[in-house]
Amino acid sequence: MTPQQSEIVKKSFPKILAGTLTATQVLYDKLFELAPETKALFKNTSIDRQSQMLIAAIGKLVKSIDNWENVKADLEALAKRHAGYGLSPEHFVYFGHAFIHMLKSMYGNEWNTELEEAWKAVYQKISEVMIGTLFENK
Ligand code: HEM
Repeated sequence: MTPQQSEIVKKSFPKILAGTLTATQVLYDKLFELAPETKALFKNTSIDRQSQMLIAAIGKLVKSIDNWENVKADLEALAKRHAGYGLSPEHFVYFGHAFIHMLKSMYGNEWNTELEEAWKAVYQKISEVMIGTLFENK
């Protein structure tokens, strides 16, 4: 992730916040289409509640994206809280596709390769830390 990419992501995120619930509905619809077995994992919360928590978490990460050590610590803690949910590393791949799909739908005509590369770089880092914490550090 380059400094330019973190700028792009920081600038672009308010747009996502503005349409939170619609946006995340798109994400979960896509996730459940790509990996139907994940639907059963979200058994304790409504998708609305889950959407709010997801966007709040991403918002926090994006805000402190230039302070990666803090972000990393937050991500490790978040990953540990995912430990009991029954996830596999592949779920992060599907989730990543669904996440980019959501962003594309939010941006519409404004979506471009630069935004796609920047967000993919961010998701790559997020999933690396979460997968590392969940599956490799045991
Ligand atoms: C970018 C990566 C991810 C972020 C930022 C994220 C964020 C969150 C947040 C904020 C919560 C609320 C609970 C908490 O704060 O600990 C949560 C819960 C949860 N997440 Fe994630 N998550 C990510 C990836 C995934 C993936 C890949 C899956 C599986 C497909 C997943 C499945 C779940 C489930 C099953 C719950 C609990 C739902 C329930 O209790 O009903 N998450 N996630």
